[in-house]
Amino acid sequence: MDKIGILDFGGQYSHLIGRRIRDLGVFARVFPAEVSAEEVARVEGLKGVIFSGGAASVHEGGSPKPDRDILDLGLPILGICYGHQLLSSLFGGEVVSSGTGEYGTTGLELTGEKSSLLDGMEEDTDVWMNHKDSVLEPPAGSRVTGRTEESPVGVFEDDARGLYGVQFHPEVTHTDQGDRILHNFAVRTCGAEPSWDPRDLVPQMVEDARHEIGDRRAIIGLSGGVDSSTAAKIVSEAIGKNLTAVYVDTGLMREGETQSIRDGFQDEDLRLQVVDESDRFLDRLEGVEDPETKRKIIGKTFIDSFTEVAEDLGADVLIQGTIYSDRIESGATTHSDTIKSHHNVGGIPEEMDLEIYEPLRDLYKDEVRRIAREVGVPDKIVHRHVFPGPGLAIRIIGEVTRKRVEIVRHASKVVEDKLREAGLYRNVWMGFAVLLPIKSVGVQGDLRSYKSPVAIRIVESEDAMTANFSRIPYEVLEDISTQITNEIGEVNRVVYDISNKPPATMEWE
Ligand code: XMP
Repeated sequence: MDKIGILDFGGQYSHLIGRRIRDLGVFARVFPAEVSAEEVARVEGLKGVIFSGGAASVHEGGSPKPDRDILDLGLPILGICYGHQLLSSLFGGEVVSSGTGEYGTTGLELTGEKSSLLDGMEEDTDVWMNHKDSVLEPPAGSRVTGRTEESPVGVFEDDARGLYGVQFHPEVTHTDQGDRILHNFAVRTCGAEPSWDPRDLVPQMVEDARHEIGDRRAIIGLSGGVDSSTAAKIVSEAIGKNLTAVYVDTGLMREGETQSIRDGFQDEDLRLQVVDESDRFLDRLEGVEDPETKRKIIGKTFIDSFTEVAEDLGADVLIQGTIYSDRIESGATTHSDTIKSHHNVGGIPEEMDLEIYEPLRDLYKDEVRRIAREVGVPDKIVHRHVFPGPGLAIRIIGEVTRKRVEIVRHASKVVEDKLREAGLYRNVWMGFAVLLPIKSVGVQGDLRSYKSPVAIRIVESEDAMTANFSRIPYEVLEDISTQITNEIGEVNRVVYDISNKPPATMEWE
């Protein structure tokens, strides 16, 4: 199987490059920036290497650099953003810190020079930028084939040395023809055969789980979502009766969640245990307002509950359905910044007795969905909107009280029901309500009211790394608003969140 290797210099989108390459049908593997040339050279079928973006500047001491011998392996190399600047600075070009940077979409102008990377691209295509430094001079002897208003060297190419660089991010969907560039590099320049499918991963994942867990007992934290359900299926296939599924009711779940878990999983071979821990979670969250503190408390409480169940069952491995985007945002890769601590990653205490195994750790949500179907996860679960591990607690800005949980749970149910009624539920990544910690004046039944507003967040995304607010018809929004203010006595105003990610995230905390 032909492969492309990616060196991760810490960009938020490094792993997404791998994802896009895999979408082209070529297997991609991500390495930490420090990987040795020897290790890279040992990878069978490796046809080319990509240097990812990253937050550092090549001028900073300590900024990540590759093992120089990787440059001499005779493999084509494509640098993206920081990778583009890195290749320029390593091969005699000039990189400057312009001070202003370039963020968001901009037009790419083709210079008309012969190009293998941009072959087949239309003129005036949009590309997505996210950089502070810029390349002023490309590596000596290379051609500049594309530029933007702020980047005189938007794209450089050197076929003789197999060196290529793009200042923008071809891996994000905001770059119109990014896939073509990655295809030109991986398939045409590197000659990788596009014959891979994510479902091919299943036998390997089952085998890996069997190997890692051996004949030990394991528990899996089942949330009812697609990730944990898929992980459960895979590990169950691997270790059979040694796996017990545990559903912890945190008191922070969506309406009807606990019942639907009971209904959906009781026939499975997973020996489901439902543990009601709502008082424990809500008591520990009393008086806590800071989002990261909430996440850490919830992470710790989950682990406390799982540890107790594991002790009862004599299990020493905890399986989690963590996927790649959870990890990158928790700062779990070496050079990345912590955006937020996902409960099943950054929220886990340093010391715990259970060993954690995460079979889906390198996959994206849509890849998981494809695998889920392959392993027989019911359709209803495959298409269910994502629900974060910390649950409704991170959709309540400020203190989490039982009353406030009830309000946001009810409002979220209205949003989901209305999306289903309008036939839009499956078109969006997720839709939910957020309870705000302020009050505003309203008028209800001829009387002045002074109550909380609820924000509605409905977003579209392919992989959770970037997202756009959904352009929901006004009638549907109005319907949602009316039902919320009619049914929830504590709310007198509903607002719609029109932010994209970035700069916002999907959740509010
Ligand atoms: P953000 O808010 O980071 O969310 O743009 C991206 C996706 O991840 C979900 N999310 C989480 N999932 N544990 C999870 O299992 C978490 O701590 C967590 N935080 C966010 C979020 O719902 C969205 O689908």
